[in-house]
Amino acid sequence: MSHPLSPGSVIGMLGSGQLGRMTALAAAPLGLRTHVFAPEPGPATLVTDLYTRAAYDDEDALARFAATVDVVTYEFENVPARTAAFLAGRVPVRPGPAALGICQHRVSEKTFLRDAGIPTTGWRAVSNAAEVAAAADALGRPCVLKTARFGYDGKGQTIVRPGTDAADAWRVIAGDKAELDAIVEAFVDFRLEASVVVARGFRGEVAAYELVENRHRDHILHQTIVPADVSDTVRTEADAIARTVVEALDYVGVLGVEMFVTHDGQVLVNELAPRPHNSGHWTQDGAVTCQFEQHARAVAGLPLGSVARVGDAVMTNLLGDDVDQVPTWLAEPHAKVHLYGKTEARAGRKMGHVNVISPRRG
Ligand SMILES: Nc1ncnc2c1ncn2[C@@H]1O[C@H](COP(=O)(O)OP(=O)(O)O)[C@@H](O)[C@H]1O
Ligand SMILES: [Mg+2]
Repeated sequence: MSHPLSPGSVIGMLGSGQLGRMTALAAAPLGLRTHVFAPEPGPATLVTDLYTRAAYDDEDALARFAATVDVVTYEFENVPARTAAFLAGRVPVRPGPAALGICQHRVSEKTFLRDAGIPTTGWRAVSNAAEVAAAADALGRPCVLKTARFGYDGKGQTIVRPGTDAADAWRVIAGDKAELDAIVEAFVDFRLEASVVVARGFRGEVAAYELVENRHRDHILHQTIVPADVSDTVRTEADAIARTVVEALDYVGVLGVEMFVTHDGQVLVNELAPRPHNSGHWTQDGAVTCQFEQHARAVAGLPLGSVARVGDAVMTNLLGDDVDQVPTWLAEPHAKVHLYGKTEARAGRKMGHVNVISPRRG
């Protein structure tokens, strides 16, 4: 596909979660349909009639899927590398498998950031308990031990404190496995957590939403506050970092850059998410173009839309039982409720979110 997709074209979406759902909904007004490929139905399959239910290693199903879509994207970063490579041999995959591979592994991600000259906290790759002990000696305690792969919402990580036995910390992330790809990071005493959601189009054009502040509860995003309470210097630095990341990855699509802002105003990148990001949900009601439409535009080869902010925004996640508060939110005329269609409200499960937009103060 060397030209923009025309109306009626189909975006292939790996994954059936809420990010895929919201991308499909935002692609529809552009005349684009979405075909979901996933082993289980989910929020995304509730809004599209094009669905292939199959395992990610089912090559017959993948080949049939590839033949019916014009481009493939994904809504979660743990798409198996082989799946992405198999599809990329048949149809454009955006963002490309190389960028996906880097973002799937914390060590390759940190190595990429270092090579791109982007500041992060100090870190060391480790693969067993003895290396954790040595890394903690080198980086200082407390430090954070994380699995290299498959971590999310604080899962697969633990803090190594002054009294922590490295073998105990190892067991927390590795169970009874003696060897596993992992990383130890120096603990960042941050002033706030922030992120930039950035898009790069098919022709290399870049559009970055402004820096937002993210507040977590129990390691899960609770609120995103826009604008972030930071200096213009921090804002500019964060924007430059996000642009450098998507250029260096030769990226096409939307990407979330999670950052720490330190007490002395340094911006350190924490991690990259090669997809629309929870901290970009405010754009659905608070920006001219929402991040999901932007992702659809980018992967379809269409021009990017304006990232201008139309108001101040607070996005609040509805986790688990928070969904019981929906009637109250609905009675608030300025609150925009976005539910994902999940029926079972398990603790910590992302059920939906609410955007409250108020007139811009600045
Ligand atoms: N090096 C660190 N120093 C201080 N806090 C950290 C560090 N790494 C992670 N955290 C905290 O843990 C949260 C989750 O870690 P993160 O690396 O973003 O993993 P994930 O979001 O994939 O679970 C971060 O948002 C931050 O609050
Ligand atoms: Mg994170």
